[in-house]
Amino acid sequence: MSQQKTLRSLHKNYQNGVPITVVTAYDATFARLLDDAGVDALLVGDSLGNVIQGHATTLPVSLEHIIYHTAAVARGSRHAHIVADMPFGSYGASLDSSIHNAMRIMAEGGAHAVKLEGGQEQAELVARLVSIGIPVMGHLGLTPQSVHALGGYHVQGRGAAAEKLKADALALQQAGAYAIVLEMVPRALANEVTAALSIPTIGIGAGNGTSGQVLVCYDLLGLNDAFKPKFLKHFAHLAGDTRQAVKAYIDEVKARTWPDDAHSFES
Ligand code: KIV
Repeated sequence: MSQQKTLRSLHKNYQNGVPITVVTAYDATFARLLDDAGVDALLVGDSLGNVIQGHATTLPVSLEHIIYHTAAVARGSRHAHIVADMPFGSYGASLDSSIHNAMRIMAEGGAHAVKLEGGQEQAELVARLVSIGIPVMGHLGLTPQSVHALGGYHVQGRGAAAEKLKADALALQQAGAYAIVLEMVPRALANEVTAALSIPTIGIGAGNGTSGQVLVCYDLLGLNDAFKPKFLKHFAHLAGDTRQAVKAYIDEVKARTWPDDAHSFES
């Protein structure tokens, strides 16, 4: 029988060198399927702005959207640890409003932890959240909420930027973060950061030396066959499967071969 995954159990995996698996989820049905498969953590990522809402960036995702989707995921999940992104604009304006918003994600969404982007500049907020019992996952490297400042979705931490990223990771750990996502950074740097920390790193586009991996559920399942950045593997091809299934439905409805007797009620 699978047990509820907690900070303690994730940390135990980390200490035993067992990679931590994280997948994004935005609704109850996928949360249930991912949970059934045994994923350690579900991330209600602000990537929902891209894959659910169809935006080009994560910036339009609101606090209300995150709370709505987190509550759906919490209803569908039984065992997984649930982390919810603090969306753009929900933190950074003031400590008080950031703390209030994180509390809403936990209380109304049912998240077990929040994730936020940024390093040293977020250390004070991370420390405050941790001090009041809100676990925080950090996010460094490619931080999509800063896409305009970064000038696009590029690999981060090359050259001189590597030292800053390491300092950011140490600052988040010092502030009390329990894990840090490393997105699109060179494998060697991800390994170096992982070795320097005593909390897990969760990689996406950061090689296989991090303490765990995270992927966007729709990407992992190949629901958008046009989206295939270098780091991504489609573990299924559901875009093609979905088109084929719906085409079969259309053909059978048009031909009046479905619903057949087996799918109809007698008087
Ligand atoms: O929003 C998201 O899905 C994320 C992951 C890509 C780490 O932050």
